[in-house]
Amino acid sequence: MAVTSSPVSLLDADQALAALRALRARQPVKYAAFFSSQLGGIVTDPALMVIPFDDHMVHRGHGIFDTAGLVDGHIYDLEAHLDRFERSAGHSNLKMPCSRDEMREIIIRTTAVSGQRDGAIRYWLSSGPGSLELSPAAGAAPGFFVMIFPGLSYPDRWYTDGLKVMTTTFPIKPSLYAITKSTNYLPNVLMQMEAKAAGVDNGVFVDANGNVGESSNMNVAFVTADGVLRHPKFDHILSGCTSLRVLDLAPALVSQGLIRGVEVCDIPVDHARAAREMLLLGSSVKVAPIVEWDGRPIGNGKPGPVAGALLELVEQDMRAGDRLIPVPYPAA
Ligand SMILES: Cc1ncc(COP(=O)(O)O)c(C=O)c1O
Repeated sequence: MAVTSSPVSLLDADQALAALRALRARQPVKYAAFFSSQLGGIVTDPALMVIPFDDHMVHRGHGIFDTAGLVDGHIYDLEAHLDRFERSAGHSNLKMPCSRDEMREIIIRTTAVSGQRDGAIRYWLSSGPGSLELSPAAGAAPGFFVMIFPGLSYPDRWYTDGLKVMTTTFPIKPSLYAITKSTNYLPNVLMQMEAKAAGVDNGVFVDANGNVGESSNMNVAFVTADGVLRHPKFDHILSGCTSLRVLDLAPALVSQGLIRGVEVCDIPVDHARAAREMLLLGSSVKVAPIVEWDGRPIGNGKPGPVAGALLELVEQDMRAGDRLIPVPYPAA
């Protein structure tokens, strides 16, 4: 804690700001730019990237978010992420702060101000400040926030050697909450912590019917022993933008003889364990091979060809596909 003297001091605005700066100095972060509708603009000093504690997103988890990729100065697949953002807002009974066109414009402008060409763009919609109640406070205006940051990164060995996962002991979210990208990630956090504590890379949720769900912040998919790319249905898991794109792009692998077809269906755990390949899919990880699940090898226990081929298709789509928005950076 920063408090060093007793009694606890009463801070003025300058002292409070100095404390926020000191916090960032102790724990350097690489947040390049932050838009806040509450501030009415963009800041680049991480000490100012704050949200009132009485915003209901903070103390009740009444908020949603989404994350799109920034690749070589272009925003990737933003419309798919905005579609999901709007759906999550609807499921959460949150009012949109402005039109979709205005949100897109704010996201692009914040990215331009950041000067970052690669990384991630995360944006949130909050219920707004004004009380410590549950329902939104009287007169609360929804908050919209955009953060430009380097993105999540994973070890190279995930791609070269593959990952190990375990079935989590934590229950999967009920469907309504699983399909909503809300700021309540407690089960996802606990699952990832449990996996790390057990010495593996991540966890996998299994639903009450014994069907495979998803991982902490990524989807999973399989290549069956007879060569079908199989993905769990999206009615009890988050509809991953990467998964949707992979399902669009994967038929190209049929003509290459790498897979026989693509299916979205319930996947009982027993069938899943017999897969030739198991894949992890998400905006940050893209496509990575899982080679071990609950201590048992998947296929021959080595990264398979479909994982590699799908990763290439996704990376190609991110570099030169038709879902890229060029960022209008200010002239240097
Ligand atoms: C729970 C969960 N499942 C799946 C995904 C993958 O979604 P995307 O491909 O859009 O990153 C994410 C990440 O947003 C997630 O948080």
